[in-house]
Amino acid sequence: MSQSLPDRSHSFWIASTLDSSYPTLTQDVSVDVAIVGAGLVGITAAKLLKRAGKTVAVLEAQKVATGVSGHTTAKITSLHQLVYADLLKKLGEEKARLYGLSNQAALEQVATFVQEEQIDCDFERKDSYTFAPSAQDLDKIEAEVDAAIRLGLPASFVKETKLPFEIAGAVKFANQAQFHPRKYILNLAGTIPGDGSYVFESTRIKTVEGENPCRIIAENKCVVTARDVIIATNAPILDRGLFFAKAYAKRSYLIGAWIDPAKDPQGMYIGAGGDYRSIRTTPHEGKTLLLIGGEGHKVGEASDTEERYERLAEYARSKFGVEEVAYRWSTQDMVSFDRLPYIGKLTPINNHTYVATGFSLWGMSKSTMAAMLLSDMILGIDNPWIELYDATRPTPFVTQESIKQNLDVGIHWVGDRLKGLLDSPENVRQGEGKVVSVNGKKIAAYRDQMGTLHQVSAVCTHLGCIVAWNAAEQSWDCPCHGGRFSYEGEVLHGPPVSNLKKHQ
Ligand SMILES: Cc1cc2nc3c(=O)[nH]c(=O)nc-3n(C[C@H](O)[C@H](O)[C@H](O)COP(=O)(O)OP(=O)(O)OC[C@H]3O[C@@H](n4cnc5c(N)ncnc54)[C@H](O)[C@@H]3O)c2cc1C
Ligand code: FES
Repeated sequence: MSQSLPDRSHSFWIASTLDSSYPTLTQDVSVDVAIVGAGLVGITAAKLLKRAGKTVAVLEAQKVATGVSGHTTAKITSLHQLVYADLLKKLGEEKARLYGLSNQAALEQVATFVQEEQIDCDFERKDSYTFAPSAQDLDKIEAEVDAAIRLGLPASFVKETKLPFEIAGAVKFANQAQFHPRKYILNLAGTIPGDGSYVFESTRIKTVEGENPCRIIAENKCVVTARDVIIATNAPILDRGLFFAKAYAKRSYLIGAWIDPAKDPQGMYIGAGGDYRSIRTTPHEGKTLLLIGGEGHKVGEASDTEERYERLAEYARSKFGVEEVAYRWSTQDMVSFDRLPYIGKLTPINNHTYVATGFSLWGMSKSTMAAMLLSDMILGIDNPWIELYDATRPTPFVTQESIKQNLDVGIHWVGDRLKGLLDSPENVRQGEGKVVSVNGKKIAAYRDQMGTLHQVSAVCTHLGCIVAWNAAEQSWDCPCHGGRFSYEGEVLHGPPVSNLKKHQ
């Protein structure tokens, strides 16, 4: 590993905030609305619903804002790399405009909460840019500017930015925003408990039964009874909505390095191509931390995770003169096949079970927008975005991308069963993780630096695919629907709700 990389993954957002400490659910409770997951969707929805007079219970498997929302880049913008020219072509002007305006409305909702609640979360208005590093992507940038202007969004074409290198051109959205996501979410979470509402941590939900009322059942068998439930677990934990087949999990990487404030590029940037770099800075105790993101891939499909961090570090060195990387971390989000998130009822026959997923790595605005939409649906308030984001819409099943991704799942399900056929635990070296075979069973074996072997079943507890080792994160990642487990088999990321079985 390069000298310039820290040896452990650690999100700056988590490292720079105190741990939250909410109780675990230890007895049955009854509320108007139960919310599973305390990320940006869950906490924003809880805030909006409580403010409207509902009692809520937020149920979080780990800690508030330690999931994707605690590992994001946290640009709050309606400029989602390049999306508007495509939406205009595929969905027409009315729907493409709704997409843009609903994301703008979400951005303003965040600004309003920051102001109303006096949240100290480094919220700053910034311009947002998607740039063409070379002339190759310029026509896409120009098409995006034209489409966004036509839709009434704050777009313009620029050739000059404060980046320390030349670009061919960029689409600029004025007056967007950035913040410290954990400071924001933890603050909002603090306003929820009381008057019959709760936040529970270390409370993993296994399933939801029935409606009228919904029974939300925790791992320890405690039950929350509620008229409505929102599944805000990023990757939905209830399979009956089939979201694991309507979106795929994409993992992406971030590094953070202190820079001279004079080198601050003063905006939020992302490159136009598939091998983009995402760039922003954040203030901390009078210093400036530069964040560079990128190197994304489908979960469970990259064995070169260390090299991915190294490539980001090299970019920071060559473009910004960075000498040392202070932080590195990664996370994942569900990418929807038609570029629209899924927000609404879980299935056509559900009237009280709601879901929000498929934010495609642009979930700061979309999570907030999802919370606004779902709270309106629960409160019976008409909302113009309902149809556009309808989580039960059928179209995504037939896109080229969805066919390819679901075919990939089938290939993994069958092909990965051949993994490790001839390998045994004795062949696992120190610091290495490998799928091996023991008495015909697939075992995920990791030998730590002290030489201790940790063995768990390699069969994912979601739908039975074989997990793969992620060297940088030291986790077992499932290539089928993005489930992740620690080397000891504990669930780190949904859709699985059960740990990998221990192998003695
Ligand atoms: C690398 C990267 C960079 C990104 N950068 C940006 C950006 O700059 N701008 C932007 O707009 N978006 C960005 N995104 C996307 C954005 O961060 C996400 O879309 C958003 O944070 C998702 O929020 P969430 O509430 O859905 O998920 P989460 O924050 O993950 O919340 C879900 C919660 O549910 C909990 N949970 C899961 N299962 C259970 C269970 N069984 N029981 C109880 N709780 C459970 C989890 O522990 C978690 O806390 C980025 C995404 C990635 C991957
Ligand atoms: S996440 Fe679905 S099979 Fe593993």
